[in-house]
Amino acid sequence: MKKVSLSVNGRPVQVVAHGKDTLLLDVVRDDLGLTGTKQSCDKKGQCGTCMVLVDGKAVLSCTAKVEALDGAEITTIEGLGTPDRPNLVQQAFVLAGAVQCGFCIPGQLMSAHALLADNPHPSRAEVEEGMAGNLCRCGCYLQIFAAIDQAVAGKAPEVRAAGPEIHAAGATAGARTTAEGLDQ
Ligand code: FES
Ligand code: FES
Repeated sequence: MKKVSLSVNGRPVQVVAHGKDTLLLDVVRDDLGLTGTKQSCDKKGQCGTCMVLVDGKAVLSCTAKVEALDGAEITTIEGLGTPDRPNLVQQAFVLAGAVQCGFCIPGQLMSAHALLADNPHPSRAEVEEGMAGNLCRCGCYLQIFAAIDQAVAGKAPEVRAAGPEIHAAGATAGARTTAEGLDQ
């Protein structure tokens, strides 16, 4: 058993690695209660729903051993934005209608955010490569890629500028995703 110091969504926390194989996914969901991060495969790195940021890079939390993360900065979907203040990619996903199940979307958003932070003007091939680790069972890839295109083009802030109706829709979609996350 080892204590590990992390910054999670900007807050310093101390967590316990019960063994060298304790996974960041389990610590985030079970110990910290941040259930917006999902598990959709058998913790085999196959689905992408468990994606978080570790020191700004997209990382599958089901493959990250927490013992090796002492001092790391972790961002989960709860730290990316809020229903009232969605971040750029969240706004773009709403604008493009890329939000469906709320199960894969947290991981999709984390990957998209990391992709654009690293490369603000990715080509379509770079977008496809950057998002390749995130599966969507319902095949919303075209809407997801369109959302990233909108974020790249700087159109996403129109969600806020377009008035209360669209803003309310965005807030509702964000809240729905968060609520589904907290319930599971
Ligand atoms: S839970 Fe599927 S990739 Fe992590
Ligand atoms: S929108 Fe989540 S699996 Fe398709």
